[in-house]
Amino acid sequence: MTSLAERTWQIDEAPFVPGKLAHTETIFTVGNGYMGLRATFEEGYPGELVSTLVHGIYDHAAGELVPELVNLPNPLPITIEVDGEVFRLDRGTLYGYRRTLNLKEAILRRGVLWRNGNGAIVQITFERFASLELEHVLAQRVAVRALNKPCTITVTASIDGTQTNEGVGHWTSLIGSSEGDHRIVVTGKTGQSAYGVAIMSSFMPHDLSASVQTVTGGSLQPFVRCQVPLEPEQTATFDKVTAIHSTRDAADPLAAARQTLDAAEARGWDSLRTAHVAEWARYWDDSDVEIEGDEVAQRALRFTTYHVLIAAPRHDEHVSIGAKTLSGPGYKGHVFWDTELFMVPLLTVTQPRLARNLLMYRYHNLPGARNKAREAGYEGALFPWESTDTGEETTPRWIEVKPSGERIRVWTGDTEQHISTDIAYAVMEYWRWTGDETFFANYGAEIVLDTAVFWGSRVEYKPERDRYELPMQIGPDEYHENIDNSAFTNSMVRWHLRTATEVWDWLRHAHPSVASDLAMRLGISDARIARWRDIVEKMYIPYNQERGILEQFDGFSKLQPINLSLWQPRVTNMDAILGHEATQHVMVIKQADIVMLMALLGEEFGSQEERLRNWNFYSRIVDHGSSLSPAMHAWVAARLGLVREAYDLFSFAASIDLEDAKGNVRDGIHGAAAGGLWQAAVFGFAGLRLENGSFVVQPNLPEHWCSMRFHIYFRGKRHTIRLTAE
Ligand code: BGC
Repeated sequence: MTSLAERTWQIDEAPFVPGKLAHTETIFTVGNGYMGLRATFEEGYPGELVSTLVHGIYDHAAGELVPELVNLPNPLPITIEVDGEVFRLDRGTLYGYRRTLNLKEAILRRGVLWRNGNGAIVQITFERFASLELEHVLAQRVAVRALNKPCTITVTASIDGTQTNEGVGHWTSLIGSSEGDHRIVVTGKTGQSAYGVAIMSSFMPHDLSASVQTVTGGSLQPFVRCQVPLEPEQTATFDKVTAIHSTRDAADPLAAARQTLDAAEARGWDSLRTAHVAEWARYWDDSDVEIEGDEVAQRALRFTTYHVLIAAPRHDEHVSIGAKTLSGPGYKGHVFWDTELFMVPLLTVTQPRLARNLLMYRYHNLPGARNKAREAGYEGALFPWESTDTGEETTPRWIEVKPSGERIRVWTGDTEQHISTDIAYAVMEYWRWTGDETFFANYGAEIVLDTAVFWGSRVEYKPERDRYELPMQIGPDEYHENIDNSAFTNSMVRWHLRTATEVWDWLRHAHPSVASDLAMRLGISDARIARWRDIVEKMYIPYNQERGILEQFDGFSKLQPINLSLWQPRVTNMDAILGHEATQHVMVIKQADIVMLMALLGEEFGSQEERLRNWNFYSRIVDHGSSLSPAMHAWVAARLGLVREAYDLFSFAASIDLEDAKGNVRDGIHGAAAGGLWQAAVFGFAGLRLENGSFVVQPNLPEHWCSMRFHIYFRGKRHTIRLTAE
């Protein structure tokens, strides 16, 4: 029996359910901010979705609409034969199976009890981790124990260079080879983006009397093979250590992989594991949220925090986290607003250094954002809705809907422009929390100001109404496209331009030389600032007088009402049921939109009564058709004191990946839902926020939570917050 304390740190799978393979492969992903590996089995399984992703290695294959994160050669394979019979879960007899992801140690373990056709029973255990200490290192161990009779086991470790992105090839000049008795390597180069990659593994038996044979033959699946005779109750253990480098991090990836592997081998497997676990302890010490009285919520929060932490780049500020992290092919590894508004806050408050890396990614990609603005006929910087390594817009213009094959024009890359403000918001929050003036003065301010320049050129003045409007937008609710005057976007733009004028005043006094450089480069003049102030004053925010709430966009209240509670039970999104075009005319919203605004602006949104009125209307017509939605609703409901409702929404958000509540976890972890859960807990239930230059908490804990404890960084100093039930 595992104790309660242990249970809240682990995700278990037992028995093996083949139908859940795609789900478990995703949720048991291991990673370290450099690489992410889906939890496919060492020995393989029919229908598996192998995925080895490294941040930043994108490639645009000929004939494909957009670039994607490239699936690297698979370093995981280890096959086992027992008296010549190949072990796999769909062969022989499986007497037992348990897989456990230990979140505290970030180690994935699996044990099986298996019988081959001749009656030899073996116990096999596997262990793997992507080292948090040495980010280029992946470590695996396999132990085979004979139980009932003597047998000979043959264990073969390989690298599989034949991988594609579900049929799409990205590699040129792939070569597999061996080095010495124990090492194999695959090198290759991506076709369009020309990233060089080297993956080198060493494979060693603990018992050196095992006979070892290395076979490569230049194949794309080079391997090292060991054979060992075993008596009953004897165990043979093998270690595989892999080093991955690319031209993004080394001039000569092959030499770097060799060097990394030399160093890792010199350290030894056990020492690698000890250091990895110690490094994780440091991360958890800052990022863990402890909840007493709710095992399910506790485990879910650790699970989601784990997934944000394994995806966050540690030593690279030129990459960012895709919507599906590094755990699957969904959205082709593209980066959305999911990062800044859903994942970054957790990091800003608990791992500011990692938040900074992600914000720097946007800084480095300002040239792409400037291109996008210019091409659309505007000034300043307009960040791409979907972004990769180049910072250019990479949203596909079309998608094909299955199973109908209907082709739909995707407008988000053209008109979902609020992302520019979302990024500015994340920059401001980072600055307000950390006080990192070096970052803000040198990089952050430029992001906030150049995106403000964009908005200044984008809004339209309507002299007949003496107000500024914003036509042709997509707000967070993507069910309604190219609408005019999204209340979310217009409000955030007003916030943005007001903030930009304040930043400008501050910069001119605190950093005059930076200000004059930016004035020149971004074209910031007194006239421009005066225009921003005018926009702040006259920005039109649609309002529904009758209901006393914001109107989500012009004409929203004229849409056809629908009673969502009748459309149950339902997993499929309403736009898929009603059809993409028809949904545009129906009053059902995809995700938190006005509610998202309430989360971001907090009390600034309006009085408690106003917020409640908006909540009562908008939370009843939301489809939660995006995984981003439930956690934001939970956050806002908690702030409104609707704790039971908040808890239900929190549980919904927690189930998205753990329970595969939306049925699409195969594509990868919902990174925004993961980061959102932390926000629902900390900003929602604990009520943590900044106020008058300091932080405050205003708890509304679920009734059964006896206590909640977490750490935050405020202006470089760590604080511990412990809340207890009254
Ligand atoms: C959501 C977007 C989100 C994207 C990636 C879409 O379904 O509507 O808000 O950015 O998925 O997660």
